[in-house]
Amino acid sequence: MEERKRIFSGMQPSGMITLGNYLGALKNWTNLQDEYDCLYCIVDMHAITVRQDPVKLRKQCKDLLTQYLAVGIHPEKNIIYYQSHVSQHAELSWILNCYTYMGELNRMTQFKDKAAKHSDNINAGLYTYPVLMAADILLYQTDLVPVGEDQRQHLEITRDIAGRFNALYGDTFKIPEAYIGKVGARVMALQDPSKKMSKSDENQNNTIALMDDPAVIMNKVKRAVTDSENEVRYGEDKPGISNLLNIYCACTGKTIAEAEKEFSATGYGAFKTAVGEAVVAELEPVQKKIKELEQNKDYLNEVIRNGAERAGNLAAKTLTKVQKKIGFPPAIR
Ligand code: TRP
Repeated sequence: MEERKRIFSGMQPSGMITLGNYLGALKNWTNLQDEYDCLYCIVDMHAITVRQDPVKLRKQCKDLLTQYLAVGIHPEKNIIYYQSHVSQHAELSWILNCYTYMGELNRMTQFKDKAAKHSDNINAGLYTYPVLMAADILLYQTDLVPVGEDQRQHLEITRDIAGRFNALYGDTFKIPEAYIGKVGARVMALQDPSKKMSKSDENQNNTIALMDDPAVIMNKVKRAVTDSENEVRYGEDKPGISNLLNIYCACTGKTIAEAEKEFSATGYGAFKTAVGEAVVAELEPVQKKIKELEQNKDYLNEVIRNGAERAGNLAAKTLTKVQKKIGFPPAIR
């Protein structure tokens, strides 16, 4: 069998994913599954670096799993699992902590941001977050990691840690690269198109959640910020309209040029209606599927059991190799 490249990605179970996550990431993941061996990890261990409510965390893990499946990420073609179910992540993370310098971690911009935001809880896990992420990636001999701009620095440190370990002990880890493929649409906040649509945004009118009702979606799109012209045209000087055009095209598969032409004689009101309808049409089948899956507990349990087993088998291989190289005595079985 020909060797397929391996892709690893993780998402935090931190609330309802947005249209931005969907068009920017998830929708593209479904295009990767026939060409690559992909692991999609629900990183509950990363999530506890900020305080979580246990009941909510458990629900958000299950919701994210359901959302992965509903958008069409196939549980047999890919490995979908909860990070906490595969204990090798924690074990390798500890080892890699001993090969990571505080000076490196001190430079992480996400740590600085999060420490400022959660100044009452600057815990050691928040600090070593990138090391756990390195363990996630390196456990699976990952070739490619699809990462957004905000995670670039974490991928860099992963490469540094892997290179350092390999230099000391010989080839152990594959050095991962950023996946630069067909990137998804970059969806901006509806009320402030200078920043990305984010699930942690406090202003609900900035985001469209995957599970928003059609009426809510139409309303949020209608209230989206535009400009004082009346021309549906893509351009840096028109961030609001450009964002809506991006959303429209990502949902319909049309090009920007086609959309501009389609709306060349249309006012913003009618344009927004068309955008809202396109989003509703795109999300409705996903919402329906989510509701179906939520009724099917046995199926979800089987997906998660199977995912943990397959991930665990791969992870165990790497961890055993690492333990041997650094001189841990072999386990007697
Ligand atoms: N830190 C990533 C985020 O917040 C999530 C993540 C954890 C991840 N482990 C990963 C992403 C490994 C890619 C690869 O978005």
